[in-house]
Amino acid sequence: MSRRVIAIALICFSATALALPPTAKDNRIAIQVSASERNQVLYEMREYLHSLFNIHNALANKDMKAVGVSTRPMTGLLENLPAGISAKAPEAFTQLAIGMNEILTVMARDAETKGDMSLTQSQMAELMTYCSGCHDTFRFDLRANRPQK
Ligand code: HEC
Repeated sequence: MSRRVIAIALICFSATALALPPTAKDNRIAIQVSASERNQVLYEMREYLHSLFNIHNALANKDMKAVGVSTRPMTGLLENLPAGISAKAPEAFTQLAIGMNEILTVMARDAETKGDMSLTQSQMAELMTYCSGCHDTFRFDLRANRPQK
């Protein structure tokens, strides 16, 4: 399945099957993690926001080389996942991580070689479908029966 098809399917899925009124219970699929695994991934997630800030600033300055440089640190989610998470994460979670990595790699390369702001912006829109697709579908749940680090 192509990356784009997966992304669109996830958006449709999350908008219909999983969309909840704000106060309803959390129906997302829970992935059991230890406290340290969770902290490690959430740290990386927060770093994404810093990178997105840098990308937006670079776009505003029409500095496409800086767009590329700011995008690269966001690549490698799958490789950076703690082994305990990558071993047990559902296939759809892994596919989202792979798909996000692909669009980031293309986005960084195109920014540097093509320097087309509008292309970068449409790639950022595609990138966001991975962020929200994964957040709408999965959540972390702290494993209860293990000592927490
Ligand atoms: C493959 C899955 C996946 C992708 C892709 C993903 N995230 Fe996450 N992210 C998660 C999970 C799981 C959580 C924890 C959610 C929970 O437990 O409620 C999370 C949490 C976060 C948090 C909260 C951090 C904290 O300290 O609480 C931020 C911010 C975040 N993600 C940003 C992003 C952004 C921005 C993107 C896209 C550029 C992104 N994420 C892509 C899985 C993903």
